[in-house]
Amino acid sequence: MQTLTVDLGDRSYPIHIGAGLLGRPELILPHLAQKRVVVVTNTTVGPLYLARLSGVLEAGGIAVENVVLPDGEAYKNWETLNLIFDALLIRRAERRTTLIALGGGVIGDMTGFAAACYQRGMPFIQIPTTLLSQVDSSVGGKTGINHPLGKNMIGAFYQPKLVLADTDTLKTLPARELSAGLAEVIKYGLIWDAEFLGWLEANMDKLHALDPAAISHAIHRSCEIKAQVVAQDEREGGIRAILNLGHTFGHAIETGMGYGNWLHGEAVAAGMVLAAQVSQHLGWLAEADVVRTRALIRAAGLPDTAPDLGLDTWLDYMGHDKKVEGGKLRFVLLKKLGEAVVTGDVPAEVLAGVLTAPH
Ligand code: NAD
Ligand code: GLY
Repeated sequence: MQTLTVDLGDRSYPIHIGAGLLGRPELILPHLAQKRVVVVTNTTVGPLYLARLSGVLEAGGIAVENVVLPDGEAYKNWETLNLIFDALLIRRAERRTTLIALGGGVIGDMTGFAAACYQRGMPFIQIPTTLLSQVDSSVGGKTGINHPLGKNMIGAFYQPKLVLADTDTLKTLPARELSAGLAEVIKYGLIWDAEFLGWLEANMDKLHALDPAAISHAIHRSCEIKAQVVAQDEREGGIRAILNLGHTFGHAIETGMGYGNWLHGEAVAAGMVLAAQVSQHLGWLAEADVVRTRALIRAAGLPDTAPDLGLDTWLDYMGHDKKVEGGKLRFVLLKKLGEAVVTGDVPAEVLAGVLTAPH
């Protein structure tokens, strides 16, 4: 097991990464304020891992209840969130009861938001079971739900007490979902660490095969970068925005294509290619850098071409982005491979050219 810390003063918390961690209640018990938890999961992950988690916690003297939600990005909304509140109220959960998110980013984001709101805040723990949630969404405290007009538009910054990433859970993850997680892993290389990008190019086959050493390294390095950025800028006043490389475009794709049709990681992958192309037009990336980025994204099993939303739809959905300031779009772009920059200075014709060019 490897352990990292997200350093946020008295709200700091550990990220444990390794195989077999679901069977280790001693990693969870010290973080409970009360011998009672409510596990939130979904109809896919519940049958796979809920009995195991509940069993080890109950053996440790913890009362375990659960809420099983419908599965899918299309359910990341108020109606589903309310099912969590219903269950907490019906079971008379208290302010010191811990909410545990067992699932991917959809479950993690909704559970975290429910924890932020219920009785104005109850503790919560992230047990991410997708690659995407292990490298990104479970860390850093962004929680929330979608709105029909915009992705992740309603939410809160609310940090978990613990992140427990059991790499064994990835063995049941569909290949398409593994690829979606690799998009966020590639993101860390592009924005922060060119050497890691090279490592990813050399090890992509091992990652697809879930080679234990390779997958652990990818998760560890990703979380290390994310923890470092979040510790500097928890509420995204500045540098944290670079973690959104490809997301302005990606969120427009997710919303425009209908939640769940393009996976978040797929939309981010195509969005990172668009960001690389804009960066090339601004003279920062060479054509060879864009070719290299696209090749890595394809090798990860991800789309390197965005759907044609039409310029008006692109601009409309991107206008809801959380980075918009004074009505002006801001983009995360690449100064070079391994170095990101946030800018509002993208000429309209460059943006339009990239969004409407045949890819
Ligand atoms: P997801 O939660 O929808 O999970 C993907 C699919 O895999 C689902 O069908 C799920 O039930 C299933 N699944 C989960 N674990 C499994 C397992 N071990 N075995 C088999 N199937 C399993 O999607 P995701 O990619 O994990 O997360 C995407 C979400 O995360 C998006 O809503 C995105 O906005 C959000 N996100 C949030 C942050 C953040 O900082 N909070 C960062 C990135 C993404
Ligand atoms: N996924 C972007 C962030 O956590 O800031």
